[in-house]
Amino acid sequence: MYAVQADGCSLTTIEGLSRPDGTPGVLQDAFCEAHAMQCGYCTPGMIVATHALLEANPSPDEHAIRDAIGGNLCRCTGYKQIVEAVQIAAAKRRSA
Ligand code: FES
Repeated sequence: MYAVQADGCSLTTIEGLSRPDGTPGVLQDAFCEAHAMQCGYCTPGMIVATHALLEANPSPDEHAIRDAIGGNLCRCTGYKQIVEAVQIAAAKRRSA
């Protein structure tokens, strides 16, 4: 979306997904745990997109996860670890 389309909306950035003490949040930890961290362009987008997914669907299947990150294209590597990271985060959020 263009920035002007967000005028008047509330925005959450990657920094907004950290814990209150500034340490990485559940999704960020899960991305590290699953070795899903990629570059500084796509990883924040993947994490913010999947945060929105988990807010709407706490138990997404692989198809839902891949659909949620469909707007974040990366041809540098695969998406397997990203899907695993989201599944790890989803499980941790459900058990919290
Ligand atoms: S690793 Fe980020 S765009 Fe490919």
